[in-house]
Amino acid sequence: MSSSETQYQTIVVTGASGLVGSALKEVIATEPVDSSYGRRTGERWVFLRSSDGDLRDLAQTEAIFEKYKPVAVIHLAALVGGLFNNMKHNLTFMRDNILINDNVLWSAYKHDTKKVISCLSTCVFPDKVEYPLTETKIHSGPPHSSNFGYSHAKRLVDVQNRAYKDEFGCNFTSAIPTNVFGPYDNFDLEDSHVIPGLIHKCYLAKKNGTPFVVSGTGKPLRQFIYSFDLAKLFIWMLREYDSVEPLILSVGEDEELSIKEVADAIVKEVGFTGEYKFDTTKSDGQFRKPASNDKLQSLIGGYKFKPFDEALQHTVKWFIDNYDFARTGFESSAAAKGGRAQPKEPEATAPAGINAETTGGVHAAA
Ligand SMILES: NC(=O)c1ccc[n+]([C@@H]2O[C@H](COP(=O)([O-])OP(=O)(O)OC[C@H]3O[C@@H](n4cnc5c(N)ncnc54)[C@H](OP(=O)(O)O)[C@@H]3O)[C@@H](O)[C@H]2O)c1
Repeated sequence: MSSSETQYQTIVVTGASGLVGSALKEVIATEPVDSSYGRRTGERWVFLRSSDGDLRDLAQTEAIFEKYKPVAVIHLAALVGGLFNNMKHNLTFMRDNILINDNVLWSAYKHDTKKVISCLSTCVFPDKVEYPLTETKIHSGPPHSSNFGYSHAKRLVDVQNRAYKDEFGCNFTSAIPTNVFGPYDNFDLEDSHVIPGLIHKCYLAKKNGTPFVVSGTGKPLRQFIYSFDLAKLFIWMLREYDSVEPLILSVGEDEELSIKEVADAIVKEVGFTGEYKFDTTKSDGQFRKPASNDKLQSLIGGYKFKPFDEALQHTVKWFIDNYDFARTGFESSAAAKGGRAQPKEPEATAPAGINAETTGGVHAAA
């Protein structure tokens, strides 16, 4: 690092080319400097993707920490997949995520990183548990068998955070988001989460003049968090939250939506007027698995989430505008040819005097 760079405090975001990381990059690029969710004067943010270093490899991970000497890390990188991918590859999901998380936390400790916020997920909670989910229930029973590899790897982060605190006094913690959606999501028809999968299906139904078929009865309820709200909550955690205890980041239990309500909203936003039906021969999954955001709201003082319809409108518009670049799972898409979606990058977030390529939310590899 050159001497002109050492005056800046570096925040590294791993997994920044994904759904959550892309939102974080855009929030940092667009919020005013020194505002609640903006970059602070004297900070530089480095946004990493897997081509900047494979975090499953300790040497590559250490090289990243040696290069940037981050004061804090928002650790989003993970092997993430839909239900069927998880079911087929539990060992891979477990090994990759254990390696990634262990290398990041160990390198952060060795390089004296002051704070790490890692990302868990509500799907790591026990299969049999009393609802609502709260932060204290993560380890109180085995996870669902379909994704036990991913779940155990993610739970281990919480165990590691406590061990790093006990043995070395580290300020490492974790966030637990519910279902995330937004631009830059994975819109694959087979291996995606419910909102991006339905948006893509509805878009194709409109384009091809075919029925829009939603799997299941449409009755199950879920909590959805918009990726830009989640990004702001990560920034708030970075500034304000210094406990090792995990924190659920979610809309409230009273904001659950049925899959039918979600599908209706997608039909409206896509402008689909054809046949629309539910395939009740398909499984519904669990009826509801509400998570409490009481702890978050009591600490932050009443965060106002973007209304679902507005967030969905933005997401659908992004998908249609960026169809050739989005992760659709189609070989013909630009994403399949060139990797992750690269449309409409937000402006660089470099403080004056710093090379935008190393700081500006594009590639860290300068
Ligand atoms: N999506 C959800 O609904 C949801 C819900 C709860 C929690 N989460 C958690 O939120 C975090 C972000 O999820 P997401 O949905 O944004 O995931 P995503 O879109 O699949 O992005 C994953 C990110 O991790 C990076 N990555 C994967 N393997 C890597 C490796 N070996 N080395 C370095 N980087 C690697 C990817 O880099 P490349 O793209 O460059 O390969 C990408 O930037 C994850 O920790 C996930 O568990 C997600």
